[in-house]
Amino acid sequence: MCGIVGYIGDRQAAPVLLDGLEKLEYRGYDSAGVAVADGNGNITIVRAKGRLSSLSEKTDGGKALKGCCGIGHTRWATHGEPSECNAHPHFNDEQTLAAVHNGIIENYTELKQKLLRRGYNFYSQTDTEVATKLVDYYYKKHKDPVKAIANFILRVKGSYALAVLFKELPGRIYAVRKDSPMIVGVCGNDAFIASDVPAILKYTKSVYYTGNAEIVCLSVGTACFFNLDGETIDKSPVEIKWSAEAAEKGGYEHFMLKEMHEQPEVVKDTLAAYLFGSEIKFPNTSLDEEMLGKIGSIVVVACGSAYHAGLAAQYVIENFARLPVRVELASEFRYRAPVAYKNCLVVAISQSGETADTLAALREAKRLGMRTLAIVNVVGSSIAREADDVLYTRAGPEIAVATTKAYSAQLIVGYLLAIKLAAVRGTMTKERKDELVAELLLIPDKIRSILLNKENIQRFASEAANKKNVFFIGRGVDYAVSVEGSLKLKEISYIHSEAYAAGELKHGTISLIEDGTLVLGIMMQRRLLEKTLSNLVETKSRGAFVAALTYEGNDKADPDADVKLVVPPTDDMFAASLAVIPLQLFAYYLSVLKGNDVDKPRNLAKSVTVE
Ligand code: G6P
Repeated sequence: MCGIVGYIGDRQAAPVLLDGLEKLEYRGYDSAGVAVADGNGNITIVRAKGRLSSLSEKTDGGKALKGCCGIGHTRWATHGEPSECNAHPHFNDEQTLAAVHNGIIENYTELKQKLLRRGYNFYSQTDTEVATKLVDYYYKKHKDPVKAIANFILRVKGSYALAVLFKELPGRIYAVRKDSPMIVGVCGNDAFIASDVPAILKYTKSVYYTGNAEIVCLSVGTACFFNLDGETIDKSPVEIKWSAEAAEKGGYEHFMLKEMHEQPEVVKDTLAAYLFGSEIKFPNTSLDEEMLGKIGSIVVVACGSAYHAGLAAQYVIENFARLPVRVELASEFRYRAPVAYKNCLVVAISQSGETADTLAALREAKRLGMRTLAIVNVVGSSIAREADDVLYTRAGPEIAVATTKAYSAQLIVGYLLAIKLAAVRGTMTKERKDELVAELLLIPDKIRSILLNKENIQRFASEAANKKNVFFIGRGVDYAVSVEGSLKLKEISYIHSEAYAAGELKHGTISLIEDGTLVLGIMMQRRLLEKTLSNLVETKSRGAFVAALTYEGNDKADPDADVKLVVPPTDDMFAASLAVIPLQLFAYYLSVLKGNDVDKPRNLAKSVTVE
């Protein structure tokens, strides 16, 4: 949440900052601002409420601000409504220090009282202004930026990525982070900090990951890192494999549409990372046969769609490997005093690798002595670095707030893990394993064929445009994908929707069915077709408009369904990978029809680094 960019080099800073912020707008988009220092260190701040485009207009695309050193911010409001006054950067009282911040300063009220007593004034409702003035206080005391920031770290509770400009130190940007992401890039004379890689991809693919409480000093062409004692830390950059084009729309109307169309490649790339012929291996991890053989149970922790990928993995792992799996919302796991089971593997799933609750759940599992595995998309992210092992998804940068391709990649890693565990535990014959691997390799083309026929879904979406409530129902893996379909719809079309295990409808929800309520039944589980169909028919008898999403060749729902959507057949356990595509498209087209901002839905942010 909130995006930060900092730049120093030979170029004019403001246009570079605006360009970087545009790549980070998925992190928050209720207001934005930049602070630019000229050659003498004089700092000018410009802020604007609303989308980044307002700031861009106000600064003539950045041209109105002169100077080669600056910091910028795009905000997702936590403390204080979205307004120009609450937008970052914030100044100290004398306007000699400016800062931007991402995260939450938990003890900001107490710190504010202390600073008020020392004569500081406050103009905004934000915790960031408190952070800014706290750094100022320590800077005035110690006359040393590293010491000032070190003291700030010691006093502040919460999470933060903070970047600071000091008038007295022209040509430098100081920054620090704790539990909020921040990367550093240096290329020739250009030096950057950013909340995420896409902001700087077009300049460099070589990035430094900053650890918690590491202080960064950027100057022309260099980045120096210090610990709390002011000692320098040696760091080596990591090469990012993502291409700069991957963070652009590439001719598509929306990032979401582009990312949905990237799913065949993403699935292929993720399979290719772990499939060696028909063998599944997890290179550069300790997940060898001996280790996997010792696992007695699995707990998946995740949030949002990553949690839904975990729900699907639960069905698949239990089915293939006969291993107990529980899936938990990370926000619940972290606070409910979980019990550490012997030989339990805790799997944290996250696209960003920075989700605050998932990171905290992972840390709680580690504290309890449990072994941890991360399934993460962003290389070098906090969750990836803190887990005992990482299996990276190969989704590339995902920009649209509503995830599509990362979810699809997470499903694939879940399947591979399930098959590998089954092979190690002897719960699957080699023939069945080979058959499943062969089926996995067909999934990219099957997804492609669904995308090619997307007009059917577009038509269906236009029929559903006036619906006030939509219910998704399914059983088994079909239930897991129903939940994801429902979330997609809510997130971007703002239509109320619920997903129910089909068998659960009659225990309450069926009372909500009225004339014309849309009920979408997912019917991909061959064993359970009749069961789900009966539940669909029950809603139809009560006036529902019934749609069935099933595989080609299944005509069981034909007499009853008002609309039938089909995807190619696949193994029941892999159903989510195909069924989710029409559900994503459905949500997308409804969002477009309603004139919503598909990529930046209201109130949401992609990377949720606050709890
Ligand atoms: C936000 C996003 C979701 C995402 C969830 C978890 O809510 O809008 O798309 O699934 O966070 O994010 P993560 O990065 O941990 O997968």
